[in-house]
Amino acid sequence: MTQTILLAGATGHLGQALGQALSDAGYRVRALVRREAQRAIVAPWAAQAVMAQATERGQLDDVVGDADIVLSAIGITLQNDGATYDAVDYAANRNLLDAALTEGVGHFAYVASLGGERMRDLPMTAAKEKFVDVLNAAPIRATVLRPNALFHDFEALLAQAMTGRIALVGDGLARLNPISERDAAARIVAALAAPERDVPFGGPEEWTWREIAETCFRILNKPENIVTLDREKIAATVEMLPQLTPETVHGALTFHLTMMGQDSLGPRCGADRLADWLAARAAAMKLEAAA
Ligand SMILES: NC(=O)c1ccc[n+]([C@@H]2O[C@H](COP(=O)([O-])OP(=O)(O)OC[C@H]3O[C@@H](n4cnc5c(N)ncnc54)[C@H](OP(=O)(O)O)[C@@H]3O)[C@@H](O)[C@H]2O)c1
Repeated sequence: MTQTILLAGATGHLGQALGQALSDAGYRVRALVRREAQRAIVAPWAAQAVMAQATERGQLDDVVGDADIVLSAIGITLQNDGATYDAVDYAANRNLLDAALTEGVGHFAYVASLGGERMRDLPMTAAKEKFVDVLNAAPIRATVLRPNALFHDFEALLAQAMTGRIALVGDGLARLNPISERDAAARIVAALAAPERDVPFGGPEEWTWREIAETCFRILNKPENIVTLDREKIAATVEMLPQLTPETVHGALTFHLTMMGQDSLGPRCGADRLADWLAARAAAMKLEAAA
């Protein structure tokens, strides 16, 4: 029988890839959007688009309704609408979970971050892990998905390379295996049908941050100019920033500086190659800049 899945965070980079992969796998996808104009984003693969604010508990019972699964990829990344991680990454997901429990949904799946359980001191991952704790204690089948950095995160490095310089933490030799949104979506769809509870994963290739930076310059045909930031000074900055700046400033910054300074490797899956994505994105960015 066809299963209905409520997909929250459907408009995001990962959410859109998830919507397509779920629809291709035979799920009936009900996509949650928060603005009328976003219905067009999900139209290619959603059987139904429903509009509600996940931050408002009272708006969610009808939205969840008879869904068999709720899958949430809701979280603050670069959104700048003043909301806190606690209000979105924790509370909005908790509202969805409460609605799922009220409506008798059997399965709740949530996209957290690779290694987040070891970074509870950072505001972004603290809010996510607080929700993971609630989800794991709830009387519902739970699946926690933990992707490594998604390809679109590296647009920021390309943008830096375009301006002529990339800044890295330490020697830039921390290792990671980023994953494309499409490969991450495929891994998540497979996990939904398996008895997995906590699913860490990364892409097929291991890189250092320095290798990614060098690739950005090579693709853009620009001279390599990498500056390195002292690891100890960065660690002190990461500790101080929350006292000196609002969360909208320090939240993403402390997360990215921390990630650049430590290895982040998940079980490998997928096939998409980061260099291909960087080349395609650089070509698109050049066209956008020329327009
Ligand atoms: N990017 C990565 O490398 C990475 C790696 C591991 C885990 N993750 C996690 O995976 C999830 C998806 O990541 P992504 O890269 O696809 O992020 P994204 O493109 O920014 O998508 C985030 C989604 O959350 C929604 N959202 C944000 N603030 C909201 C609010 N106040 N109320 C309701 N919805 C809100 C967004 O809706 P709008 O489109 O309306 O803004 C969007 O659908 C996030 O939780 C992220 O932390 C990301």
